Amino acid sequence: MADKERMIVVSNRLPIILKKRKQKWSVEPGAGGLVTALSPVLKDRGGMWIGWPGTRGRINLSGLRKILGPISEETGFRIVPILLENGEIDNYYYGFSNSIIWPLFHDLEALCRFQPQYWEAYVRVSDKFAAVIAKHSTEKDIIWVNDYQLILLAGSLERLGVKRHCVFFLHIPFPSPDLFIKLPWRKQIIDELLRFSFLCFQTHRDRRNFIDCARSFYPACRVVGRGAIVELEIKGHTIQIGSLPISIDYKRFRSMASAKEAALRSREIRKDITADFLVLGIDRLDYTKGIPEKLRAFARALEKYPHLQGKISLFQLIIPSREGVAEYGALRDEIQKLISEINGRFSTTAWVPILYRYGTVDQKELVAMYRAADAGFVSSLKDGMNLVCKEYCACQTDYKGVLILSEFAGAAYQLRSGAILINPYDVEATADALYYSIFMKEEEKKNRMRRMCKSIRERDVYWWVNNFLRAAAGKELKDFPEAEL
Ligand code: F6P
Repeated sequence: MADKERMIVVSNRLPIILKKRKQKWSVEPGAGGLVTALSPVLKDRGGMWIGWPGTRGRINLSGLRKILGPISEETGFRIVPILLENGEIDNYYYGFSNSIIWPLFHDLEALCRFQPQYWEAYVRVSDKFAAVIAKHSTEKDIIWVNDYQLILLAGSLERLGVKRHCVFFLHIPFPSPDLFIKLPWRKQIIDELLRFSFLCFQTHRDRRNFIDCARSFYPACRVVGRGAIVELEIKGHTIQIGSLPISIDYKRFRSMASAKEAALRSREIRKDITADFLVLGIDRLDYTKGIPEKLRAFARALEKYPHLQGKISLFQLIIPSREGVAEYGALRDEIQKLISEINGRFSTTAWVPILYRYGTVDQKELVAMYRAADAGFVSSLKDGMNLVCKEYCACQTDYKGVLILSEFAGAAYQLRSGAILINPYDVEATADALYYSIFMKEEEKKNRMRRMCKSIRERDVYWWVNNFLRAAAGKELKDFPEAEL
């Protein structure tokens, strides 16, 4: 494969934010780490990004293309939108993707709704994406497919008779065979994943689970090699299977957090909070994030260690998400009820234990919040990686913050030498971990945070993109201290 193969990134959602105000659409480039990391590569290779702009209802495609034109100039690569009908959004996005694969792959099979019409829509939308990719690409391009919504894409292209070099990264966990076996379309999912020439997971655990599931259908398959990239000989051919943890733009977060503006804003945030010790939780509204578990552990710490009352507060920011899935609305109600119970029980005229905000904040405010907090608290029941914990570390300019991190987040392996690891189901131990992080000696805090920052700095999102593309091209990985991963 030539170094400068044109790259086409495909993901369910486009890296843009579309807003409709007074009947007029406006568009801005997305701010996530993936966009930041991929933009220079796409620019350099003259690539494009294909996906759904997240719109529902009637929208004129040629009008949309017109507003996307200037954004493409700004980003330096083309943005190609795929519109979804309402039925497709309900059955493919909310249905198969977010009511089957999402809960199952996060070990929550009781939340799955195995509806056959969801599968049909999942196949149909994949074919729809394939037709657009076929039109905009050639055999020489590399097609980088992202995430669980588009597992069938390499197969859809093949069925169209279109030959393409397709590679895949799964951003969420891959479940163990015991759970995966519940999926009525389990064999199709394995077979379709095996059509990619390079399949990459966040962690060794996810890759091992995938290989174990594939082996249950193809017992004669063979793994060759060790380390981050191995070969899987299966069904008469060989594919590369990797495990590479996604990351953040460390330098960008660090320099934003080091700016005067962030220092001023973080002081303002602290001035409004009467507690001496501020714990910060930032999560997308999702049942995988363990938010009720976090709140219960926080309340348990106040109960078990009464001298903490009045001294610590938790600021919990919840970012709205997938409002069309019933469980998400119910979760929001449960969280709000729990917060008012805890605040009702412990608040005084001078102190509120849990400060809560439901909504989005811009990156400057986010960075100031990270900087203002004495501890970051991530309690996911299962998480592909979790970037909030990496962002929190990057913003600890004085290295004094403590990270309390669920051992079920993909990031736990990389950050295990610095984080206080918790099992979010264990309310007593999590309450104790909170207590420990409050009274930890400053020297220990700094040593732990320095170790985490070093690891995140050395393996930032650019490192991840470069190594993903090197592995996809069959090249050796670069800057890869294997022992640490
Ligand atoms: O973690 C998987 C993921 O798809 C992320 O890439 C994304 O930020 C998040 O879930 C929310 O996804 P969406 O709002 O597109 O369903």
